[in-house]
Amino acid sequence: MPTKDVISVFGLGKLGCTMLACFAHKGWKVIGMDVLASSVKKINNAESPIYEPGVDAMIKANKERITATTDPVKAVNESTISFIIVPTPSQEDGSFTTVYVNEVVAEIGSILRAKKDFHTIVVTSTVLPGDMAHIKEFLEKTSGKKCGKDFGLCYNPDFIALGSIIKNFLNPDMILIGESDKRAGEHLHSIHEALVDNKPTIHRMNFHNAELTKIALNSYCTLKITFANTIAEICEHLPGGDADVVTKALGADTRVGQKYIKGGLSYGGPCFPRDNRAIAYSAKKFGCQTPLAEMTDKLNDYHRKERIPNVILGILKKKNVKSIAVLGLTYKADTTLVEESAAIHVVRALCAAGIKVKAYDPAGVPAAQKEKGLESVKYCASSEECLKNEKVVFIASPWPEFKKLSKADFIKHMGTAPVVYDGWSMLGLKTDSELEYLEIGKAF
Ligand SMILES: NC(=O)c1ccc[n+]([C@@H]2O[C@H](COP(=O)([O-])OP(=O)(O)OC[C@H]3O[C@@H](n4cnc5c(N)ncnc54)[C@H](O)[C@@H]3O)[C@@H](O)[C@H]2O)c1
Repeated sequence: MPTKDVISVFGLGKLGCTMLACFAHKGWKVIGMDVLASSVKKINNAESPIYEPGVDAMIKANKERITATTDPVKAVNESTISFIIVPTPSQEDGSFTTVYVNEVVAEIGSILRAKKDFHTIVVTSTVLPGDMAHIKEFLEKTSGKKCGKDFGLCYNPDFIALGSIIKNFLNPDMILIGESDKRAGEHLHSIHEALVDNKPTIHRMNFHNAELTKIALNSYCTLKITFANTIAEICEHLPGGDADVVTKALGADTRVGQKYIKGGLSYGGPCFPRDNRAIAYSAKKFGCQTPLAEMTDKLNDYHRKERIPNVILGILKKKNVKSIAVLGLTYKADTTLVEESAAIHVVRALCAAGIKVKAYDPAGVPAAQKEKGLESVKYCASSEECLKNEKVVFIASPWPEFKKLSKADFIKHMGTAPVVYDGWSMLGLKTDSELEYLEIGKAF
C-alpha cells in the first residue's frame, strides 16, 4: 500500500524517470519536474523520454497517476516529498559538482518559504562527503526555515545498474538513508517499505556516513572486479589456466562471495569509474591516502587500453590480417551509453594501431560516433554485416542477441576457420578444426 504522499521527482533522466515510473506503478501520485520541456511533454503523452527496459510500458500503464511539469512551484506545492535526481558531473580532480543540485535546492527553498505544510526533500543524486551539510545550510537560507522542524532532508542514493533499474530499484539488497533527523528518516523509510518487492535491510545514519557509504560501496566493487581481472591475466599465462575455475572457487568462500569476481574486460559506465575516483579525491581532501582506489583506476585502464588490445593485435598478427569485426560498443547490454566503455577503449587502441575496425551495436552507435579516435570505424547495421568476410571477431559488450550467435553463424558469415574472441565468455563455443574460440582469462 502506498503512503498518503504525493511524490515530486526533480530530474527526469535515466534514474529519475525510472523512479517516477516505479512510484506510480506502486500506487503513488507522482509529479515529474524537469527543465527539459521535451522530456516533460513526453511524460505527459505517456512516453518515456529515456532508454531503459520496461520504463515506457510502466509509464503507459500508470499514466493516470503521472503528470510532469517544468514548473517547480507546482511540483513542490502539490507534493509532500521531493526527490532530487539531477546530474552531479565529475570534475578533473575526481570531485563532483553540485551546481545542478544547488539550482534545484534554491528553487525548492524559495518555494518552501510560502508553503505551510511540512515537506521532505530527498537528494538521490550522488554527492560527496560534506555536500549534504552545505545543502542543508543552503535550504535553510533560501527557505528561511529550520531543517528538522519545518522541513526534513535525506540523502538516499541508489545502487541500481542501467538496463535493470526497475528490478534493482524494487528489489534492492539494502537501502541507504542519510537523515537530518528522525522524522525525515521515518518518512522516507515508510515510502521504501511500501515500495519494495523484497525485504532489504534499511540502513539509516547521519549524512557523512551515508555519503561515504555510497562511494565506498562502488569503489569496493571496482576493486573486486579489478582483482578478478588480474587473476584472469595470470591464468592466460598458465598452461590450462582458467580464471572462471579459479574465481568460482574463490567466490565459494563466503568471505569473498561470487559477485563481481569474474575476470573480464574491465569496468566502465557512468558510476563505477567516477565513484572510485571520487573516494580517492575525498580521502585526499581529508588528508588520508587511498592508493588502492588509485591503483584500481590505473589497472582498469591498463586492461582496456593495453592488455586486451595487445592480445587482439597478437591474434590478428597470427591470422595475418589487419581488420576485425567488433560486436558491441556500450559498456554493458541494454543501454545506449558508451561512457568509459571498455569496448570503446579497445577499439580506439586498435584504430591507433592501424587496424580496420567494423563495428555493430544494437543501441550504442550514435554515442560511439561522437567518440574521438574512432573516426575510421565502419559502423554496420547488423551483426551479419559486421562479421561478413572478417577473419576475427571480438565480442566487446554482452548484448543478449550476441549470445544467440552459433558456430554455424560465424562460419556462414566469416568463412572458414574464423577466430571468435569472446570478451564476456558468453558464447560457450569450443575450439575445433572449423573455428577458434578464445576467451579472456583462459590460456590459449
Ligand atoms: N543513471 C545511473 O545509473 C545512476 C546510478 C546511481 C546514481 N546516479 C546518480 O543520479 C544522478 C542523476 O543521474 P542520471 O543518470 O539520471 O542523469 P541524467 O543526465 O540521465 O538525467 C538528469 C536529468 O536532470 C535534469 N535536470 C538538470 N538540471 C535540472 C534542474 N535544475 N531542474 C530539474 N531537472 C534538471 C536533466 O534535464 C535530465 O533530464 C547523478 O548524480 C548520478 O550520479 C545515477
